[in-house]
Amino acid sequence: MRLLVTGGAGYVGGAVARRLRASGHAIVIVDDLRTGHRETADGFDLLVADFADEVRVGALLGSHRFDGIIHLAASCLVGESVTKPDLYRDNNLTRSLALLDLARRHRVARFVFSSSAAVYGEPERVPIDENHPLRPTNPYGETKLAFERALASHTAAHGLSAVALRYFNAAGATHDGRHGEDHDPETHLVPSILRAAADGCPVPIFGTDYPTEDGTAVRDYVHIEDLAEAHRLALERASSPGRAEAFNLGTGRGYSVREAIDTARRVTGRPIAVAPEARRPGDPARLVAAAGLASRTLGWAPSTPTLEGIMATAWAHLRAAGRA
Ligand code: UFG
Repeated sequence: MRLLVTGGAGYVGGAVARRLRASGHAIVIVDDLRTGHRETADGFDLLVADFADEVRVGALLGSHRFDGIIHLAASCLVGESVTKPDLYRDNNLTRSLALLDLARRHRVARFVFSSSAAVYGEPERVPIDENHPLRPTNPYGETKLAFERALASHTAAHGLSAVALRYFNAAGATHDGRHGEDHDPETHLVPSILRAAADGCPVPIFGTDYPTEDGTAVRDYVHIEDLAEAHRLALERASSPGRAEAFNLGTGRGYSVREAIDTARRVTGRPIAVAPEARRPGDPARLVAAAGLASRTLGWAPSTPTLEGIMATAWAHLRAAGRA
């Protein structure tokens, strides 16, 4: 298939583009490089543009027949979404709708969308399956849910085949060590812990009074290459025209912040100091996926299911890059 990958110079998008290319698909990346990195797209056809640029992306979609769009480009920091809700509405909803309209006009048959566990909000029950109520608690989750809904109605009206993939906590680096997480600022737990292992500075623990086994928040970490594989399966196997489906992507195993830090101590062999701090506003205590639907429908199963395995790839990437 010929595929357009928006955000393909980003962290998850880079892994997705690599996986799809390795499966024989022809990939064009569109990325404005505001948060993505040009090196991530090395060796790919890259259009440096806003993904909703009607002229440039429209010309690209008109120049060849594209079979699918994998839409990963987004603003994706929960905290930032609270202070800049307009930015999130614009990037994640308004301009994503413009991209969907371009897809319709150019008769692109398949659309795979990066959604998030943030669509569920504060969980009523854990593990969370796809029938859990959708009550996001921040603008990031609200915009992801609003686009999922728009995608479903667009799909029904225009005969597109669409899949929303609700990621839990993306983590790790590709097993060849070449592609990993590199955000600025870095707010995610796994890279923050590994940076602490490398630099010797303490890692903050946001909240030690959660109703969990050790008082710290529990998350379901999923390796980026397993996420990437789910995109391949979604494109190749899922959904008939006119249907939109949504799948959780997680391992089903939760790790607390303290467990994650202990895991990093084992993986790196380095001491890691911690600094207990107040809870980060809006962080749920426990987010763990029930991913049985992706397993049954797509045949998806994580191949790096433990946090130890995931961290080992992230640490190898940092070492290969000379950053640890
Ligand atoms: N945490 C720390 N110290 C840090 C960084 C994080 O204690 O230095 C804690 C957080 O408070 C949270 C957990 O580690 O409890 C994981 O935090 P991340 O920032 O790595 O990830 P989040 O669970 O906050 O966010 C992820 C995705 C978002 C998505 C969200 C769904 O990155 O895109 O899950 O709620 F929206």
